[in-house]
Amino acid sequence: MANNLKTDDRNLLFPGSNNTINGILENAPKDEPARQHYFLDALKEYVSGFSSAPCACVVTFGCQMNARDSEKLEGILRTAGYRNCADEQEADLVIFNTCTVRENANEHLYGRLGHLKSAMTKHPERVLAVCGCMMQESDEVEKLRRKYPYVDLIFGTHNLFAFPELLFHVFCKRQGVVDRLAGLDAQREVLVDSSQDAERMDKLLRYAGTDNSKDIRKLCRKPVISVWKDSSEIVEDLPSERKYPFKQGINIMFGCNNFCSYCIVPYVRGREKSRQPGEILEEIRRAGSEGVREIMLLGQNVNSYRGISTDGEKYSFPMLLEQADRLAEECGISRIRFMTSHPKDLSDELMEVMASAKHVCRQFHLPLQSGSSRILKRMNRVYDRERYLERAARLRETMPDISISTDIIVGFPGETEEDFLETLDVVRQVRFDAAYTFIYSKREGTPAAAYADQVPADVVKERFDRLLQLQNTIVSDNLRRRLGISAPVLFEEVSEYDPHMVTGKLESGITVHVQADPLRQPSLIGQIADVRLTECHGFYYTGELNGYI
Ligand code: SAH
Ligand code: SF4
Ligand code: F3S
Repeated sequence: MANNLKTDDRNLLFPGSNNTINGILENAPKDEPARQHYFLDALKEYVSGFSSAPCACVVTFGCQMNARDSEKLEGILRTAGYRNCADEQEADLVIFNTCTVRENANEHLYGRLGHLKSAMTKHPERVLAVCGCMMQESDEVEKLRRKYPYVDLIFGTHNLFAFPELLFHVFCKRQGVVDRLAGLDAQREVLVDSSQDAERMDKLLRYAGTDNSKDIRKLCRKPVISVWKDSSEIVEDLPSERKYPFKQGINIMFGCNNFCSYCIVPYVRGREKSRQPGEILEEIRRAGSEGVREIMLLGQNVNSYRGISTDGEKYSFPMLLEQADRLAEECGISRIRFMTSHPKDLSDELMEVMASAKHVCRQFHLPLQSGSSRILKRMNRVYDRERYLERAARLRETMPDISISTDIIVGFPGETEEDFLETLDVVRQVRFDAAYTFIYSKREGTPAAAYADQVPADVVKERFDRLLQLQNTIVSDNLRRRLGISAPVLFEEVSEYDPHMVTGKLESGITVHVQADPLRQPSLIGQIADVRLTECHGFYYTGELNGYI
């Protein structure tokens, strides 16, 4: 049963008195991650005083990076004593980890927040937090502050690791204790922080220690806000909790330096930072020892990975991948994937490493964006149509069985019918196994948002439909060609649509559904088994387990 917190729980003091809370703040170590482990201990103690274990729901929007960040939030919450809860309407703590890559991602968040209004106002003891890419935009933070007063905590992508400290502040604040947020972001170039509310701080200080609890509560309901502008550090060694026990994303780098003219990611995720190879390899080893079968190395552009080991050796992405492959063999990891690879610096060396690796999946995500060199130039993608086609051909030469997927944007400013036909032509030539197609979305602050020649919506829609139709035909043709063969599938879950089916993925990333007795299903999930592909249905196969009765 969710909603375990009684309203009175928010009046529970941290062990000791107000002074003790000040003491906790003053004695906190300055270095990370020790500081966050310290606040995590304080939270654990606080949460253990609740009437029963509270539950938390982390809702993730956006890409694999956000999914991995959410696993870190889950890890912190689990360590603090929160149970997992799938229903945001019932949870004692809800976090929305946001995406802002396209306008509809933002709209989606506001819709979900609107739906939570009644639950949050009826249960003021609950905590609502919003973090992630969208919170790096100060206009959006301002909008939350004005229109969604039931949000308790706002933080960004650069200080996600500080979630224990921030949550601690939320609970401090709810008790009307002296607000130390002014000190929270000292030494930081912050984009937004709640200590800017000087007047509110003054009032809070005046009310603290008085019995004016109604006013205190009103003020305390204002959010704790801490959004950093950027950060050059990477904080390691905080807990994380896998969504699936058998697969894990592993960050190899953060941020992006490419500034494609349509894209907001470099503004909200900051500049490129590579993790130390030793830290990455250690995380892979740990994942293997905990039973993980598949890992995905994550970065906005893995090809620009530049790691430096503790003894000063420089690592490129192919070097890292080669070592990861060797390590996978030792520690029982069967599949390695990576995402994303920018075509501009996809090297022959990377392809060769892939071709001779034992565990790297024969799948390559190579975002095209447009097939027109003129548009690619305006997009600041640095490669042209010919270079893209040459790289895709080289991939197939090196690994004839490779599956190539892509991202395409339709309706970039200035895109003419001729430009669009060039995109269709590349799609026909490369015959992608999957394409994620997007309608161009204008993101304020990016260079493309200022271009005068935005394409009318009806023209874009018509092109988008044509692209989809072509791509769908190609995918189902590609799928049909492999019908009848047997291939390994990693089983992930019971089918959403049929409890007698389990769903898994081929090495290419394509989904396969297989009939399996519900009693046998638990032993299949997380395992790799050979499946004969018997039927194809547009984007996915159904198949039969070899040797399974
Ligand atoms: N770093 C990755 C992509 C991250 S964003 C890369 O470069 O491939 C994922 C995809 O979203 C992009 O590949 C692009 O196709 C799409 N995208 C990004 N900004 C967009 C925008 N403003 N409008 C529409 N699609 C966009
Ligand atoms: Fe965005 Fe381009 Fe960076 Fe990808 S490489 S995140 S599309 S700026
Ligand atoms: Fe979205 Fe941020 Fe990923 S904007 S696509 S969640 S990096």
